[in-house]
Amino acid sequence: MEKVRVELNERSYEILIGKEILSTVGERLLRFSIGRKVGVISNPKISELYGQKVLDSLKKEGFDPYLIVIPDGEAYKDFFWAYHILTRLLELNFDRKASLVALGGGVIGDITGFVASIYMRGIPYIQIPTTLLAQVDSSVGGKTAVNHPLGKNMIGTFWQPSLVWIDVETLDSLEEREFISGVAEVIKYGVIWDKEFFEFLNLNRERLLKKDKEILINIIKRSCEIKAEIVSKDERESFLRSILNYGHTVGHAIETLTGYSTYLHGEAISIGMVSEAKLSHFLGFLTKESFKRIKDSIKSFGLPVDIPAIIEPEALLRTIMIDKKNIEGRIRVVIPEEIGKMKINFEVKEADLKKAFFEI
Ligand code: NAD
Ligand code: GLY
Repeated sequence: MEKVRVELNERSYEILIGKEILSTVGERLLRFSIGRKVGVISNPKISELYGQKVLDSLKKEGFDPYLIVIPDGEAYKDFFWAYHILTRLLELNFDRKASLVALGGGVIGDITGFVASIYMRGIPYIQIPTTLLAQVDSSVGGKTAVNHPLGKNMIGTFWQPSLVWIDVETLDSLEEREFISGVAEVIKYGVIWDKEFFEFLNLNRERLLKKDKEILINIIKRSCEIKAEIVSKDERESFLRSILNYGHTVGHAIETLTGYSTYLHGEAISIGMVSEAKLSHFLGFLTKESFKRIKDSIKSFGLPVDIPAIIEPEALLRTIMIDKKNIEGRIRVVIPEEIGKMKINFEVKEADLKKAFFEI
């Protein structure tokens, strides 16, 4: 098993990455000072695939696990379903020693973390991410969230998990499109932090797309190392952590304007990364060659790179204005200065965004 540590003083934790490790998670949990009651939060699809393995592993080690299932989809990452989970925990007499397990993708991870952070003022939880996106990004770093009708991820907390348990075998059942969407976040790490990793991904494209386990473990580990380093330096996103939002200014706006139904998260982020690289080139930072390299690389993994024609420039700019990163009406972006190096919270004018995205 590969190990990555997120250093956060008394809230430090480990990310373990391996093959066929789902059935041993119970054993690992014995190391924690938690009670016997464990709530395993999942959705019907994932619990059908992997729920029993996790429940059996917990039971074998003397835990008392309860499966709590919510419907599958981003639409259910909301207050209502968080409230439903909280109600079940109360009905089951979960106390402050009880813990939660998030078994699923980013949706399950985010809502479980959110519930864990507010149930009885906070109980421990562990992440068992089952999508590539969740394994390389959302399960690490302690951002929890539910959506509000007025904005995605607008309600949430910082609440670090006690453990992240990654079994790459779970990716075998993941739909191709979901898998490739997760690759977008992996490419992001190359662009924001590690040029060598960016090149490695391009060199190993075929093996990665074939879900070669050795490559998967390698790239998940490197992605987690990068995220762990960034989160350890800036847990609350006062500065450095915002580089993880590369591609998200435009990406989130595209998701909002297309009603979260046209693009998967990683696909929208891919368009965002290319657009924001283009903006950097327009502003005179990123060279044309590096911009092309980012665009071609993202495209070569089968990810979209262009802002769809149905999106009106005015609507995109208006939506960008309500991004969480903006402060007092000023638009702030994170853009690559070169591959592996970012400009953080760079203030841009609306007119420049319009020109860079739609007029050159
Ligand atoms: P998801 O959780 O909706 O999972 C995608 C689909 O794959 C779902 O239908 C799910 O049931 C299915 N699935 C999951 N694992 C599977 C498996 N092993 N086999 C077969 N099917 C499987 O989506 P996601 O892309 O994992 O996560 C997106 C969410 O993550 C968004 O809500 C986003 O806001 C959030 N997110 C959070 C952070 C963070 O730092 N907290 C970072 C990035 C994204
Ligand atoms: N996914 C962005 C972050 O964790 O900060």
